[in-house]
Amino acid sequence: MNDDLLERWLDAVLATRGLTALRDREEARRVLLDDALAGLELVRRFDGPIADVGSGGGTPGIPLAAALPEREVTLLEAERRKAEFLERWTADLPNLRVIWGRAEDQATDRYTVAAAKALAPPPVAAEWCLPLVEAGGAAILWVGPSADANAVARVAARLAAELEPAPPGFLVLRKTGPTPPGFPRRPGVAKKRPLA
Ligand SMILES: C[S@@+](CC[C@H](N)C(=O)[O-])C[C@H]1O[C@@H](n2cnc3c(N)ncnc32)[C@H](O)[C@@H]1O
Repeated sequence: MNDDLLERWLDAVLATRGLTALRDREEARRVLLDDALAGLELVRRFDGPIADVGSGGGTPGIPLAAALPEREVTLLEAERRKAEFLERWTADLPNLRVIWGRAEDQATDRYTVAAAKALAPPPVAAEWCLPLVEAGGAAILWVGPSADANAVARVAARLAAELEPAPPGFLVLRKTGPTPPGFPRRPGVAKKRPLA
């Protein structure tokens, strides 16, 4: 893995205003880098292109792109300033690309993995991620201990997906068919009227 690149990336995230509230470098390493790589084996279960939805300063997508150079990794980020910061890292990582835009506005059934960390409450993150994933792939959510897996499972059922076993700190939603008609709902709707 390109350790030097990841160190430079961590420094840049910490030095750039508005990317993270973290100030301590070791804490940033744990949250932005180690937590991202904790999902590596789950991501490896599904071969093909990866999207990091709501990438912010680039996690989990940049650590995953560095660890999986043979996989195409797309960082999807709604805020232009953050997308511009992310674009800088495509020079070092040939498998990385960046889209400035919202999850709800993207083509559907395009990726095998949609990964999301701290994107939104898990039922909303699930609704934003699952339309991006093709049948056989999965949305992989990094979640806290209070995440309501039953609510996420109800969202998954509406989007042709089901919850599958995963280690603590993750919810894995395997897509079993194409995105049903009516999804994604218009931007803003998933947050205003969550499915669960
Ligand atoms: C709290 S940050 C988390 C960033 C990063 N994943 C992390 O763990 O540090 C959530 C990010 O998601 C982006 N975002 C929110 N809604 C989005 C949407 N519908 N589509 C794409 N990005 C979105 C925000 O601009 C923000 O950068």
